[in-house]
Amino acid sequence: MASRDIIVGLDLGTTKVTTIIAEVDDQGAQLIGLGHCESQGMQRGVVINIEKTVEAIKESVLQAERMAGLQVESVIAGIAGDHIHSMNSKGVIAISRRNVKDRTGEITQADVDRVVEAAKAVNLPMDREVLHVLPQEFAVDDQKHIKDPIGMAGVRLEADVHIITGQVALAQNIYRCVERAGMRVRDLVLEPLASSYSVISEDERDIGVGLLDMGGGTSDIAVFHEGSIRMTSVIGLGGENVTRDLSIGLRTPFDQAERIKLAHGHCYLPNVERQEEVEIPGIGGRPPTRVSRQQIAEFIQPRMEELFELAMAEMRKANVWEMLNGGIVLTGGASEIEGAAELAQEIFELPVKVGQPTGLGGLMETARSPIYATGVGLVLYGLEGRDPFLAMEGADESTVFRKILRRMRAWFEDFF
Ligand SMILES: Nc1ncnc2c1ncn2[C@@H]1O[C@H](COP(=O)(O)OP(=O)(O)OP(=O)(O)O)[C@@H](O)[C@H]1O
Ligand SMILES: [Mg+2]
Repeated sequence: MASRDIIVGLDLGTTKVTTIIAEVDDQGAQLIGLGHCESQGMQRGVVINIEKTVEAIKESVLQAERMAGLQVESVIAGIAGDHIHSMNSKGVIAISRRNVKDRTGEITQADVDRVVEAAKAVNLPMDREVLHVLPQEFAVDDQKHIKDPIGMAGVRLEADVHIITGQVALAQNIYRCVERAGMRVRDLVLEPLASSYSVISEDERDIGVGLLDMGGGTSDIAVFHEGSIRMTSVIGLGGENVTRDLSIGLRTPFDQAERIKLAHGHCYLPNVERQEEVEIPGIGGRPPTRVSRQQIAEFIQPRMEELFELAMAEMRKANVWEMLNGGIVLTGGASEIEGAAELAQEIFELPVKVGQPTGLGGLMETARSPIYATGVGLVLYGLEGRDPFLAMEGADESTVFRKILRRMRAWFEDFF
């Protein structure tokens, strides 16, 4: 092993690729390199253009390498939760080892395994794989809501299960892009899980907290309680939707609307300086116009409200709302808009804060933005579980994949 240990986090977002290089010593990890490059090769966490993604990775990594004065060999890459789906399914079997007289049988572990296997037999597209199957409850003949049916007598056993699937090809695309950019993938980590490492404290994880990572194309939800991840979900709204609304509202191109949003955007009307005016350059030779910040906020607030309401509905649907004793932590670029915490607090009726990434020494001011929550979190994730990753160096693609799938299963081990 090299004299100094290096961990690199690579966040492939919808809008940008960021690289965080950290040097590890006895004291912990120090940030020594940061790269940030706009990207158009990804959409909602999925590679849509390999060339563009590879170019953005190269550029982002090169920036970070120059700052750190070293060459990156391997990275821990983020993978969006977007393609990790969960669904409910049912299995039914006839109970074996029947008693000849009354034709019933006693349920054994083998029966339970069989019925779970039957429930797993769902029609999945070719490119999906089952990552985990979680039995919820059983029914024996007409008796429902049984948690543990072993030892009971009956003819028919039914199981309700929760199945988590992932699209392996999408993970493979991320893997290939990194390889084509000349590096190895040490691991792929679910992005909201990575972000949680940099913006959520252990106390919060224990008492229960919801993380909402508001990106460009999507917003990821992750709920933690009693130290474990309890739920993850993705909603298809992010900062780009806000910009699009503003672009339509102000009748100005997307890029212009983005600039206005970053400089003057606000999403909580009660706190907006009403009179303050902003100049909007005219398009196609038209003269510039002036709008008030209040008008700008009027275009932004409804979309932000929708995003928070959808997130709340998802968490309620998954029965995790009652776990949020520690409230909600917002992160990701779209959480940086002024008024985000205030608006969210009003909608959630829970304490809300915007989480800036922490946990790495030497974090310069620029890296303290929620935009870097995932990148910094990937490094911290790598720091916690360093040994297994290092063992993967030099492994071939299929070995790495088997390991990654096993790890993904492990994330959901103590779900529910
Ligand atoms: N200061 C700011 N104020 C308002 N919005 C901002 C600010 N900075 C960034 N954003 C918005 O954040 C979004 C990008 O966030 P982020 O970098 O977290 O996304 P991403 O990781 O590229 O995307 P995703 O996670 O969806 O794949 C953009 O829509 C951008 O407009
Ligand atoms: Mg992101």
